[in-house]
Amino acid sequence: MDRNYCVKLNDGNRIPVLGFGTYASSPDEKMKSEEITKVAIEAGFRHFDGALVYRNERAVGQAFRAKMADGTVKREDIFYTGKLWSTYHRPELVRKGLEQSLKDLQLDYLDLFIIHNPYSLKPREEFLPMDGNKKLIPDHVDLRTTWEALEACKDAGLVRSIGVSNFSRKLLETILTKPGLKYKPVCNQVECHPYLNQSKLLEFCKANDIVLVAYSALGSQRNKLWICQNTPVLLEDPVLGAIAKKHNRTPALVALRYQLQRGVVVLAKSFNEKRIKENMQVPEGYTSGGSWKQCGKVARARAWESEGPGFQSLLCHLSAVCRWANHLSGLQLPHL
Ligand SMILES: NC(=O)c1ccc[n+]([C@@H]2O[C@H](COP(=O)([O-])OP(=O)(O)OC[C@H]3O[C@@H](n4cnc5c(N)ncnc54)[C@H](OP(=O)(O)O)[C@@H]3O)[C@@H](O)[C@H]2O)c1
Repeated sequence: MDRNYCVKLNDGNRIPVLGFGTYASSPDEKMKSEEITKVAIEAGFRHFDGALVYRNERAVGQAFRAKMADGTVKREDIFYTGKLWSTYHRPELVRKGLEQSLKDLQLDYLDLFIIHNPYSLKPREEFLPMDGNKKLIPDHVDLRTTWEALEACKDAGLVRSIGVSNFSRKLLETILTKPGLKYKPVCNQVECHPYLNQSKLLEFCKANDIVLVAYSALGSQRNKLWICQNTPVLLEDPVLGAIAKKHNRTPALVALRYQLQRGVVVLAKSFNEKRIKENMQVPEGYTSGGSWKQCGKVARARAWESEGPGFQSLLCHLSAVCRWANHLSGLQLPHL
């Protein structure tokens, strides 16, 4: 398989099957965003997954420009996904949210723009607006009107493709059955790994020509602020370990290849040069035999304490969100 093998989206555009996750969970990693994005480009990554709420799009954009200036890549070689944050769901704010990302990245267009989360928050300066009791302030927006605004962004040439993230089947159906739908979502980006393999959602997406994009495919960054540390560590799973040993690969490569094997586009985050190079291998030579089926059966438990669709439902859990909000507000680093 070509390192930057692409699959066709339902609007005719193409997405590389392996993407680099740019979410930096510590101030230290945030400071490294530009440098590490350059390392990822040099290692061969061409698909980058980012978001306004990650607060490092300026640094990521600077890395793009530096690698374009030295001739390593052209703009058309890069596939960048940006995300519409929940405080920008009102249709009149969608373009504003997008334009902030474009400005930070210093790009003319995004390759893919997705609704980050299906829950809406009151439009405010801060990303996680809270009331006096430290409760998030929701906003009531019909996501179908948000979607129409995304369609307008595509028509305006500001984005090549549009999609969603953290959507359940029911929410996808709300968009797909919208009267006058102009463009279908090209993708649904969700938490997906052997402990939460999303097989039913994947089946639905495939039937509707929607690409499922897997995040936390390596088991997530296990941030102590919102991940219970007693939950099993995916990359230490004995079944993954046995498959890796059998194929003379690492558990991480098995977890990534597992997704490609089942037709899922997969994201991998690493801010470590050695592991970035390793992830770019996602090696050839595996067969779709028993080992891969076994890998699916690793789905013995979810990686964290939550009854909903993984990270998304965890985010909806107020105390975790509040801790996350405090964490984000502590990361107000100067833009590079
Ligand atoms: N749409 C959404 O709501 C949403 C939510 C979460 C994430 N995402 C996207 O998905 C991306 C990836 O998900 P994630 O951030 O949860 O992390 P992940 O890809 O599951 O990675 C988890 C951890 O694995 C480690 N790792 C990477 N390669 C490895 C290897 N070869 N061997 C051993 N360990 C390895 C990394 O640590 P080191 O850095 O130390 O290598 C990283 O912290 C994010 O960056 C973001 O772009 C989207």
